[in-house]
Amino acid sequence: MAFRVTEKRMLLLTFLFLCFAAQVMARESKTLLEKELLAEEKLKLINKPAVKTIQSADGDVIDCVDIYKQPAFDHPLLKNHIIKMKPTDDHSRRRDKGSSQATTSTGPTLSQTWQKSGACPNGTVPILRVQHHHLFNAPSIENYGRKPWNGVVKHELHLSNRTIAAGIEGLHANGVLIGNGYNYIGAKASIGIFNPWIEGEDEFTTGQIWLRNGRFNNSESIELGWMVNPSVFGDKTVRFFVYWTTDSGKETGCFNVICPGFVQTSSEIALGATFSQVSTFSGPQYEFLLEVWKDSDNERWWVVYGDTPVGYYPTTLFEGLSRSATLALFGGDVYSPRIWDSPHPTTGMGSGTFASYHFQYAAFIRQPRIKDFSGYYKYPYPYITHSNQVNCYSAENFAETLWIEPLFYYGGPGRNYPFCL
Ligand SMILES: *[C@@H]1O[C@H](CO)[C@@H](O)[C@H](O)[C@H]1NC(C)=O
Ligand SMILES: *[C@@H]1O[C@H](CO)[C@@H](O)[C@H](O)[C@H]1NC(C)=O
Ligand SMILES: *[C@@H]1O[C@H](CO)[C@@H](O)[C@H](O)[C@H]1NC(C)=O
Repeated sequence: MAFRVTEKRMLLLTFLFLCFAAQVMARESKTLLEKELLAEEKLKLINKPAVKTIQSADGDVIDCVDIYKQPAFDHPLLKNHIIKMKPTDDHSRRRDKGSSQATTSTGPTLSQTWQKSGACPNGTVPILRVQHHHLFNAPSIENYGRKPWNGVVKHELHLSNRTIAAGIEGLHANGVLIGNGYNYIGAKASIGIFNPWIEGEDEFTTGQIWLRNGRFNNSESIELGWMVNPSVFGDKTVRFFVYWTTDSGKETGCFNVICPGFVQTSSEIALGATFSQVSTFSGPQYEFLLEVWKDSDNERWWVVYGDTPVGYYPTTLFEGLSRSATLALFGGDVYSPRIWDSPHPTTGMGSGTFASYHFQYAAFIRQPRIKDFSGYYKYPYPYITHSNQVNCYSAENFAETLWIEPLFYYGGPGRNYPFCL
């Protein structure tokens, strides 16, 4: 008799368990299905039909998209936008003060890996295709391609003559050189390319230029440089990027052309692409010249990679930045949800080595320049260097000798014994 009761109870328990399991499975497959649908929808929105597709050896897919069908035109402010193929200002209008040289480029434009596998025809622009796995592995499909929003922290920085309130986005660590100016209409620098270690799939690390305007916690920003960002690109390879926002990243903006804004004109340079060469520890150092400036037609912030104008941000996207930038920064930025935790992430900034290791070891930015209303590029003097986690990442302006211009070094390993734990 006792035996039968137990058996009955077992049956009941098994039945209940099966009901529960079925319910859980149904719920999971529903969310999986929802995610799948969301991903499909998003992919259709982001990726435009290709005239030609290039399969790069590094696994990237580059779509050559009709220049008039590029993502920028999805932006409500750019519905009837007429593409301008070339800047108004030529090279001679973009020279350094006291120099007849147009750019500080030290060699030919550094190539991108995909260019070995083909070229985009005239009338098209190369766009890195967002693939299913990129979206599916991202922390959020809705916010794919945006910086995670965690508020902005106010940093009072004492420049020679005044104090500025610079915003550092929440959960970010910075190592930067900041120019003490008032109005900038351009910035450029030759940026050493490194591929630092990154610990978490949800983190990113950059070497870049920022031009900003606005309150510390609600600023417009145009950014450009290199970055390692697995949650956008699905790998830990260093890539070229541009970024914009009009509200410190709270609701607007994104990387590259993942959301509409940047108008691409070059058929040669792709945003988000990998570099054909990267600096190695104590080996050859590679750098690329990046420039962003407001054209004298006042309608566009052009981005130039090496000698090639890549495209522009129409000034209609911005308010303050439609006139000028009020803050120019050069350096590195690490984002991690665990940046203030102990143990500190082992994610590197720059080359993953402290600035004090200097050339061939630490990451560097050569010849940082700002352009003011004089129309010339100048050294951002006077300046300060700043790091908000000095034990983990550092920043130093250093020249081997007194009579040469210093290089700006920045970076660090993140967690290291006994300083950054
Ligand atoms: C693309 O256009 C440029 C200038 O209009 C021309 O010099 C070049 O030969 C063209 N390239 C191709 C592949 O048609
Ligand atoms: C510092 O302030 C003085 C007086 O206000 C001004 O004349 C000078 O140009 C300022 N220097 C810089 C570098 O802004
Ligand atoms: C920015 O910070 C100020 C206080 O310093 C606050 O009053 C304001 O609401 C903040 N703005 C945004 C957009 O968060």
